[in-house]
Amino acid sequence: MPKRVGVLTGGGDAPGLNAVIRAVARRSQARGYEVIGVREGWAGLIHGRFQALGPREISGILPRGGTIIGTTRTNPFKVEGGVDAVLSTFADSLDALVAIGGEDTLGVAARLFEENGFPVVGVPKTIDNDLSGTDYTFGFDTAVSICTEAIDRLHTTAESHNRVMVVEVMGRHTGWIAVMSGIAGGADVILIPEQPISVEAACRELSRRHERGKDFSIVVVSEGYELTYESGERRTVTQDESTDAFGHVRLGGVGHQLASEIEERTGYETRVTVLGHVQRGGTPTARDRVLASRYGLKAADLVHEEQWGQMAALRGDEVVAVSLREATAELKTVPPEWYDVAKAFFG
Ligand code: F6P
Repeated sequence: MPKRVGVLTGGGDAPGLNAVIRAVARRSQARGYEVIGVREGWAGLIHGRFQALGPREISGILPRGGTIIGTTRTNPFKVEGGVDAVLSTFADSLDALVAIGGEDTLGVAARLFEENGFPVVGVPKTIDNDLSGTDYTFGFDTAVSICTEAIDRLHTTAESHNRVMVVEVMGRHTGWIAVMSGIAGGADVILIPEQPISVEAACRELSRRHERGKDFSIVVVSEGYELTYESGERRTVTQDESTDAFGHVRLGGVGHQLASEIEERTGYETRVTVLGHVQRGGTPTARDRVLASRYGLKAADLVHEEQWGQMAALRGDEVVAVSLREATAELKTVPPEWYDVAKAFFG
């Protein structure tokens, strides 16, 4: 009997999801397997919502942003009867599952595999690049490119008006997007959660730059940076008190607070740009399309070889298999060496 391979996308969308879906489908169909989309993440397996992923459905999706099968942050372990529903829907409809997601979606996959022998393999997705077990997640390169272009654009208007421009980028509790786009865009100060330099120190860098004769500056701040003061006080800025099904707070807003503090402390006119979901939307870069395609092919191969509980991962230039448990064990934070590169250009 041909295998029925389900594909599910969970968590925040990321450019390249459709490229993975296409690659899983193309390779699996070539082996005579049927490929079925599970709608809206784990919710699709709880409620039995599916979508055909035949040759016609996957045609033309490689450059498209978003995900044609939808996504949610549903956590079956937090829904009453959720896990039982996932298991029984799966048993009735599918033989294998490819879960494409970040630490939350893949954390659920790892648990289902370990506790129930669930036949699942994973693909690492997130614009945040914070998944251990892989050098890079797909979606990250596109987000960095979008932020870099925004920083380039902000440079010219900052220079024209002699302003400080604060750019708030995503990344949750890691500063990968901030550091990479900040280096690429020539930021004068970069603030990230892993190396929280104080607001006072950031202002000193700006003053040093202005004393050197530069009348404008670019500050990149990661949404997860805690406002940090030399007094020892630290403050996380969130949009509200709510958390999602995985216990995450909604970050965002630190850029505005930082901008007003900079203006107050330095006297330089300051503006803020929050890039928000623009970072996740639209067509993936060529690099993300290639990485996503390679991940999709590897995931299809893992299904064929029945290597359950494994995830496609990039190590150096190779796409290899690592265990889902290892991949979701801890957050991959920005190492100090990367921040040192950024710091060399501060001020
Ligand atoms: O994890 C991806 C991400 O874009 C984070 O960088 C950000 O904090 C979060 O998702 C935003 O989530 P939502 O789409 O639910 O607003």
